Amino acid sequence: MSDSLVILGSQWGDEGKGKVVDLLTTDFDYIVRYQGGSNAGHTVIIGDKKYALHLIPSGILREGKKNLITNGVVIALEELVAEMEKIKDVVDNFEGRLYISDRAHIVFPYHKLLDQLSEQSKKGSKVGTTLKGIGPAYMSKYGRTGIRIADLFEPTYFKERLKNAVEEAKKIAENVYGVKTDLDTQKIYDETMGYFEKIAPLVADTSLMLYNAMEKGEKVLFEGAQGTMLDIDMGTYPYVTSSNSSALGLCNGTGLPPKLVGKATVWGVSKAYVTRVGAGPFPTELKDRHGELLRERGHEYGTTTGRPRRTGWLDLVALRFASRINGFDGLVITKLDVLDGLDEVKVAVAYEIDGKVVKDFPASPVELEKCKPVYKTLKGWKKSTYGLTDKSQLPEEALQFIKTIEEETKIPVVMVSTGAERNQYIWL
Ligand code: IMP
Repeated sequence: MSDSLVILGSQWGDEGKGKVVDLLTTDFDYIVRYQGGSNAGHTVIIGDKKYALHLIPSGILREGKKNLITNGVVIALEELVAEMEKIKDVVDNFEGRLYISDRAHIVFPYHKLLDQLSEQSKKGSKVGTTLKGIGPAYMSKYGRTGIRIADLFEPTYFKERLKNAVEEAKKIAENVYGVKTDLDTQKIYDETMGYFEKIAPLVADTSLMLYNAMEKGEKVLFEGAQGTMLDIDMGTYPYVTSSNSSALGLCNGTGLPPKLVGKATVWGVSKAYVTRVGAGPFPTELKDRHGELLRERGHEYGTTTGRPRRTGWLDLVALRFASRINGFDGLVITKLDVLDGLDEVKVAVAYEIDGKVVKDFPASPVELEKCKPVYKTLKGWKKSTYGLTDKSQLPEEALQFIKTIEEETKIPVVMVSTGAERNQYIWL
């Protein structure tokens, strides 16, 4: 493996990236969150304690690591501060341990409100967002009305921009959605400055920090949020998030040049089956007892919203697509134990659209809705794989399942996770 590593979700998020990142952090100097916002949710279990992280990289729970939230992330300051409070029992001083980009954009209350109004107003085509204001915050960023962390150091400048942004948000709420709001510039300003006071010592030029670190050969772990199939450019648009949640987001989200990012090893994380929260195409979705079984056994309820996740068989068409987009060097398969005890396990190797077999992931949501998965049926394994730590303990049928993934994607499976605890995994 090279000095740096990228961990990406290869499905629709919730693949268990948090555990993989947490497990590997000991080998790295820097852990970097570079896109998305508090729509993400990583659960890390240590002993009998469960930590749900949304904005702060999972590496924060290990001592001596530098955790960076870089420019591509959109930050709701109230949520960042609340998250810092929640992990106070593990981290008493964030200085030297958490760095926040001065170029990162801020998610304001009006972004959350507009997210809600936009979702409510959609008829039949709701994205099913997390209502965390992510889309509207990126709209402000790309519409050049956004406000960045650096702006908070200039109160007059910040207030002027905030006033304009609040006025605009009010007009949109009223004129587009017919909703009168009590958004108040002064109130938002005061609250923001209150939170800012708590994080100001952590603000840094993270692009420069990372550039210097990588030039020196220090080891960086990049932690993707969401998953490839939710990528704004390559995902199942419009049922996606508003950032580049595939490897495409690495340069614009960190301010690093492609030649440095390109040196990193890239691993994709995939569940042994598929889940999706929110709306949108999902070719291998199961709406029968198997789907219910996967949801119950896999505890498939959202970390951020608590919503039940949709479930289905492993989709190797989507995984092949994700492997190409991201240039995976290896795959990590999580939640293998959830499939324990089934008579048979299915994996989709192609789709059938209007009688035609296709092996590449289509762009059109209309086509995707028509996709009928072409399954390869494998023999299930009757032994428990829960908590196994050595390859030799894996049942033959589970090894065959892994081999099928490797054959179809042409990517080696480097690790399998066999439970939620830190020590429940197997290196292959
Ligand atoms: P948004 O990112 O809140 O705008 O939501 C857009 C879509 O992405 C919705 O379908 C969400 O359910 C989904 N989504 C956003 N973040 C995550 C995540 O971390 N895991 C899984 N799905 C997510």
